[in-house]
Amino acid sequence: MGRRLLAAKSPPLCGSATVPGDKSISHRVAVLGAMASGTTEAHNFLAADDCLRTLEAIRALGVTVTRSGSDVYITSQGYGAWRRPEGVLDLGNSGTGLRLLMGAVAGRPFETALDGDESLRRRPMDRVAEPLRAMGAEVTGQGQRLTPPVKVRGGPLRGIVYEQPVASAQVKSAVILAGLQAEGATTVIQPELSRDHTELILSAFGGRLVTDGLKVTVEGGQQLHAATLTIPGDFSSAAFLIAAAVLVPGSEVTVEAVGLNPTRTGLLSILSAMGARIEIGPVVHVGREPWGTLTAFHSDLRGVHVEGDLIPAAIDELPLVAVLATQAEGETVVRGASELRVKESDRITAMVESLRAMGADIEEIEDGWIIRGPRPLKGTGLKAHLDHRVAMALAVAGLVAEGETVIEGAESVATSFPSFAETLASLGASVRTL
Ligand code: S3P
Repeated sequence: MGRRLLAAKSPPLCGSATVPGDKSISHRVAVLGAMASGTTEAHNFLAADDCLRTLEAIRALGVTVTRSGSDVYITSQGYGAWRRPEGVLDLGNSGTGLRLLMGAVAGRPFETALDGDESLRRRPMDRVAEPLRAMGAEVTGQGQRLTPPVKVRGGPLRGIVYEQPVASAQVKSAVILAGLQAEGATTVIQPELSRDHTELILSAFGGRLVTDGLKVTVEGGQQLHAATLTIPGDFSSAAFLIAAAVLVPGSEVTVEAVGLNPTRTGLLSILSAMGARIEIGPVVHVGREPWGTLTAFHSDLRGVHVEGDLIPAAIDELPLVAVLATQAEGETVVRGASELRVKESDRITAMVESLRAMGADIEEIEDGWIIRGPRPLKGTGLKAHLDHRVAMALAVAGLVAEGETVIEGAESVATSFPSFAETLASLGASVRTL
């Protein structure tokens, strides 16, 4: 992956593509594989920086990991055999990796230090520390919001009932991973449904879990066994190809073998409300995850209001919604999305600064944006803000802008979709890396 992404007004995108394995599921397979005894076999694992960091971290806990491309083999004797890691676990840019691991090591009788890059060092870990402390772990970090580096001193845990103040699958999953090792039951109560991959995948590892609406309960003291799994293409990566096809006149793009878990596909509902034509091919279940084919056609768009439970279901796609809204007729309002401020960057401000520089009419509000369209965009020099999704969303905007859009800091794309530019270019888009 180059350091710069270059995009220019594009001819139509046509053809079909696949995208790399789902990032959220790959992290979970890595951590659960490490907690289970036996050899876990994962196919289509996301071999991108974020998930490779998680594999390095489980190695440091004494787990054996071998990888051949996107086939990963994880051999462990179960979480009871983990040893205290030497040195600090460096999760790079990955909030998911760091938070899941905080939960997983909270039940282990040693201290684990975890850290990350400049972006991760700005992200709050108090949201994970609070329930883990209530369960009996000691957690320290920097400042009031416990930013990394953090330390978790684990030990015997007791089950809790934890009511989440904000919908977060990372926090929910961290508490479930700790709860599996605790004494008694642990219940997480969500304010809105966040992605449920941990819940769905746990049974493949022999784990038991009960969901009841927004409540998830796990019994403590569970032993897990190894699993063999195939991971779907990442909907959040496919989203860039779909949005590009919707925006660029004359386009028709198919993305195959994509994960279509409804806790992730809020963008499809938003696109449909905006008037976009998207066809969803036959959906099959692989394990408990739905997979399918998506075909997107260039469409005229209208403004839309996005809020409530659509927010967690589209959380990582909201920067793309901002881009789509600049080309939609009328006003788009995104509200209730203040979580965007604590992602890999402050995505609310990052998109306002960037899209405004391209000529968009976009207003920043505390928890989202108000965008009026359509407005012609012009290419200019932009920054990725250490944020892969900002970089890729801006490259998509560049496909409908006059002149050239240059995004600096685009190496962050390697955290989730290293082949982003090549894949888009293979469909005919005028995008490349330098
Ligand atoms: C993720 C959950 C979401 C999402 C992130 C991946 C996960 O974060 O934004 O990219 O894999 O659990 P939150 O849990 O903080 O909402």
